[in-house]
Amino acid sequence: MSHNGKLYIETVGCQMNMLDSELVVGALRQKNYELTSDIKAADTILFNTCSVREHAEHKIYSQLGRLKFAKRQRPNLVIGVMGCMAQKDQELIFDRAPHVDLVAGTGQLAEIPRLIDESRATRERRTALSLGRRDGSRDEVAGSFESYDPLRDPEMRPSPYQAFVRIMIGCDKFCTYCVVPATRGPEQSRPPSQILSEVRTLAGQGVKEVILLGQTVNSYRHTENGQLFRLSDLLSLIHDTPGIERIKFVTNYPKDMTTDLLEAVRDLPKVCRYLHVPAQHGCDEQLKRMKRGYTIADYREMMARIREIVPGCAVSSDFIVGFCGETEEAFQKSMDLIRECRFKNSFIFKYSARPGTKADDLWSDDVPEDVKKWRNNEMLALQNSISEEDNADFIGSTVTVLCEGPSKAALKKYGQPVENRSDSSNAFTAGNPAGTETHKLQLMGRTDCDRIVVFDGNPRLSGSLVEVDIHDCTPTTLLGSIVTHALTHGMEFTLPVVF
Ligand code: SAH
Ligand code: SF4
Ligand code: F3S
Repeated sequence: MSHNGKLYIETVGCQMNMLDSELVVGALRQKNYELTSDIKAADTILFNTCSVREHAEHKIYSQLGRLKFAKRQRPNLVIGVMGCMAQKDQELIFDRAPHVDLVAGTGQLAEIPRLIDESRATRERRTALSLGRRDGSRDEVAGSFESYDPLRDPEMRPSPYQAFVRIMIGCDKFCTYCVVPATRGPEQSRPPSQILSEVRTLAGQGVKEVILLGQTVNSYRHTENGQLFRLSDLLSLIHDTPGIERIKFVTNYPKDMTTDLLEAVRDLPKVCRYLHVPAQHGCDEQLKRMKRGYTIADYREMMARIREIVPGCAVSSDFIVGFCGETEEAFQKSMDLIRECRFKNSFIFKYSARPGTKADDLWSDDVPEDVKKWRNNEMLALQNSISEEDNADFIGSTVTVLCEGPSKAALKKYGQPVENRSDSSNAFTAGNPAGTETHKLQLMGRTDCDRIVVFDGNPRLSGSLVEVDIHDCTPTTLLGSIVTHALTHGMEFTLPVVF
């Protein structure tokens, strides 16, 4: 079959973007595009972009800048910008990088194959964008952002055994610092029947773990045939899908962490005991400025409910340091919250003022960069010490791990080709990792509570649940060795596995 040329795609940003890239690649491969990890060999280059912090945008613009000469040498090349920065900057992208051919927003991904064809045929620029949040009624704006979930492409997944499933698009929370409500549009939940059939398809392709995605995933609500489905109902609905062993969902909004959801996590064994529920800050005044809609007392109450209903549940958080008006005292309150809640891990970000957001309109970005940096490092050190202490509690115990494949170190050592993945941290392509199929490698996987575990074993274990004895740890990783349970004369004992 004649092919449509080689496609290179680069993805930054969150899991939503990773999923979008998978879907766009799926659609383009159907049209006989061949995926390449060599940008120089590509006929079509796509950047799936993120606008959440300025740094992420800078990186893309400088990469686009570097392609100016490539475009001159290869006039047939089509360069496209998709994702959040495309929706946010729109035609400005052509001003800053005139050799870009197409710009497609997050709600217009289905248009990309056509736009590439047209742009190549006519050598004219193409755009496909959704409406701005103030450019029409809520329904009109919502209608201009399409959920795009048709073709799945296994090769683009975090691992062959894990897949993202979008359950909602957009965000209506409007935290004052955040571009996402603008770049992703109004919050819209997908119908449960569609989600269930997608999960079944994925299970049929060998997926063991599904990660349900939404910007505020626990705000999910959809009425189908007169019945209201909340996230807890959706979890019950997909729980018994044959082949699916684990279900996770990210990211949660603290105010929507309802008791029915926590009870579903408690009662449904395949649902992981792991909740990512960002606090963002530990000080009420800052939370108010951020328009997060809860106080620290509310967050504490939520944590107490989590601890009571789902004992042993791992909780992780996000924090912003150096937000407008953050005093040293306010910062210390975030530190206190971390000490109190003992998060499994926290993603820590220096505040980045985003044009068009309320915070940027109303307040000056008044915490100096070196103070932001210092606070970031202090917080990271505190979180790391807590993570390491809590990980140490696992030493001497046996945990169940869903093996994802060779560890980062093993991939590096054996030069595993990781094609076009934004986050190759635990990427592993099905098949033979550089001819090492029969050898023991360092493998990685996660526990039910999302802790990363590394251990030696045969890569064939990828995709299966294994028992691992933990004997050491770092702040981010548990280190162990595989055990096997042999049943002899009715007595169970444990043996190290020898391959
Ligand atoms: N929808 C998710 C996360 C969205 S963005 C949620 O609400 O939890 C991921 C993280 O980036 C946020 O949790 C926040 O901590 C951080 N973030 C968002 N906007 C930011 C900004 N302007 N500067 C710095 N960090 C930001
Ligand atoms: Fe951004 Fe807030 Fe929505 Fe999260 S909940 S995406 S931080 S506006
Ligand atoms: Fe970035 Fe858009 Fe995700 S701004 S964090 S890629 S929703």
